[in-house]
Amino acid sequence: MKNLVSKNNFPIFSGRYKKMVYLDSAATSQKPQVVIKAETDWYTKYNANIHRGAYKLAEEATELFETTRQRVASFIGAKNYKSIVFTKGTTEGINLVVSAFARHNLKSGDTILLTEMEHHANIVPWQLLAQEIGLKIKYWPVTITGELDMANLDELLTGVKFLSLVHISNVLGTVNPVEKIITQVKKKNVFVLVDAAQSVGHLPVNVSKIKPDFLVFSSHKMLGPTGLGVLYVNPELFADMRPYQAGGEMIAEVGFEFTTFKKMPWLLEAGTQPLAQVYALGATIDYINTLGLKNIYLHSKSLTAYAYEELSKINGLKIYGPNANKRLGLISFSIGKLHAHDLATLLDRQNIFIRAGHHCAMPLHTKLKVAATARISFGVYNTKADIDSVVSALKSILKTWN
Ligand code: ALA
Repeated sequence: MKNLVSKNNFPIFSGRYKKMVYLDSAATSQKPQVVIKAETDWYTKYNANIHRGAYKLAEEATELFETTRQRVASFIGAKNYKSIVFTKGTTEGINLVVSAFARHNLKSGDTILLTEMEHHANIVPWQLLAQEIGLKIKYWPVTITGELDMANLDELLTGVKFLSLVHISNVLGTVNPVEKIITQVKKKNVFVLVDAAQSVGHLPVNVSKIKPDFLVFSSHKMLGPTGLGVLYVNPELFADMRPYQAGGEMIAEVGFEFTTFKKMPWLLEAGTQPLAQVYALGATIDYINTLGLKNIYLHSKSLTAYAYEELSKINGLKIYGPNANKRLGLISFSIGKLHAHDLATLLDRQNIFIRAGHHCAMPLHTKLKVAATARISFGVYNTKADIDSVVSALKSILKTWN
């Protein structure tokens, strides 16, 4: 298995934790030098507020910001750049859709369909809205192999107005067949949101093919800056979007008695945007395109397959979720009675960094009948040697603790 990139492209690997084996990219990815430089470049060369200044520096800043919007659009296959709304991250993207779309377009008695493998960010905002306007919430069960059973879908859709589901589960690693699901769901005129936090930047995601109404993701999980996310909105729904936050930037005209608003996407971008981060997201997209999304996908696929195979050989280790063919980028597991937090601490002593806990998916853990799991997840910089390190550390921990 070939390495995809040199860890030298990522300054953190030659910094304080030179020897770390970083296996927590599903929580956040490390950043390449080009992305860090782009963020600094914004402040040293381009910084001015956008859409406001009538001077060269501000005009240039506006142009750079809006050009990045267009690049994000083409990165995810959106035909209209006005579909791209900048947010703080995936969580804000979902909250935005709940608040600026679902609150006004759904009514008491309507049903929302979620899946049992959702992150809290795709459950709790819906629960709050359900309490507020009287919606019902149904859950699409996760099968014993950690998948969604397509055979259940038609029946589940009875009365459903909105389906919100994850593309790649942050616990099970399952890659849900969103294109197939959306084709089936759209026959019943159901709105669909896809949580693509673990998929955009990890495999090709094309909104013109999968045709969601909304798709959300975070820059920081795809090698880009923190504090920034993207919401894609289907242009057919532009007229149904209401303001999310109110303030500067999203207005057309304000009087003492009334206000008119800008159109999409600026309607949903109140206040000064994360300018340096948006600029650096452009550099992130360049970096990903240079590596090639297909190569990134294949690299992640082979690390996942190798790790799955090696972990499966460890007696007493239980893997959650489907086999390697149906997952991407991460593996959650438990080892007998050893608590996942203790396991993470023991690995930390060997400079192996993993995530342990419920991964913001407590209902799924309840379903799996486990309080906490340990999770390893991969980025472009991970190598076969990283997997060998964690596997050998786990074997020696098992010898000592069992
Ligand atoms: N949702 C992120 C994770 O799975 C934070 O780790």
